[in-house]
Amino acid sequence: MAHDHMIEMLDLDAQVLHEYFRDLIGWVGREAADRPRVVDLGAGSGTGSLALARELPGSAVTAVDVSPEMLAHLRSRADAAGLGDRIRTVEADLDQPWPDLGPTDVIWAASSMHHMADPAKALASAFGALRPDGLLVIAELESFPRFLAGTPDEDVELRGHAESAKRRHEAGLHMHENWGDRMNHAGFTSVTERHFDINLRPPLPAAAARYAEISLGRMRHGLEGRLPVADLAALEKIVAGLAGRDDLSVRTKRTVWLARR
Ligand SMILES: C[S@@+](CC[C@H](N)C(=O)[O-])C[C@H]1O[C@@H](n2cnc3c(N)ncnc32)[C@H](O)[C@@H]1O
Repeated sequence: MAHDHMIEMLDLDAQVLHEYFRDLIGWVGREAADRPRVVDLGAGSGTGSLALARELPGSAVTAVDVSPEMLAHLRSRADAAGLGDRIRTVEADLDQPWPDLGPTDVIWAASSMHHMADPAKALASAFGALRPDGLLVIAELESFPRFLAGTPDEDVELRGHAESAKRRHEAGLHMHENWGDRMNHAGFTSVTERHFDINLRPPLPAAAARYAEISLGRMRHGLEGRLPVADLAALEKIVAGLAGRDDLSVRTKRTVWLARR
């Protein structure tokens, strides 16, 4: 069940933030070689794999993830989109020595590098997997989506986010890393960094309310025993009432680094 929600959340992330993704994929497309061989690290539900296969003419994409459920979902989306012959899936734990992924022109890692147990090791593997002049793209969340800015529920959402950030830190996730410095350290050159400050204002389509429902529901679930009971109860009430609201916004900051081997 948790996995289903994660898959739906990643799909909604792509749907609700489609302008950001279009901008980002366009940038990568301009920088990439012709007919690139792309590797999508921690491909998840397939947002990057599908968009890259669709937008980069003649590209071939290898989607790598540790989760067979994610890869099965990705495979069915790719087939449904008529991209099945351009996307292959590889099940692998990227904390272990990487499988041979073949010659690679572009490595795309969206919201996945922060999961790596040893980021320096992962970057060294990426360096080794890319052909000279190949492109590494790392997209990360600077801030998780907020939906209740400017509403009476804003404060409890902020307290929830602050506590979630602590929880992620304790779990050893590498959020808020300077990936540009790390890329330089690993031997990459021409590192470019772009900040995307996303602010979608109400009224928003129903997908945004569903995105809020799953995101805030997951947040609430992870905060059991970490927030005062009054806050937990308030969050539960908010989540239950999101579907009918017309005052939701989506605010999130993403940072993207692009570098050459
Ligand atoms: C937050 S999701 C991002 C998915 C996708 N890149 C996107 O932008 O929607 C992180 C993904 O990384 C995968 N992942 C986490 N640790 C991994 C590891 N050690 N090896 C391979 N994949 C991993 C998870 O299974 C999950 O699908």
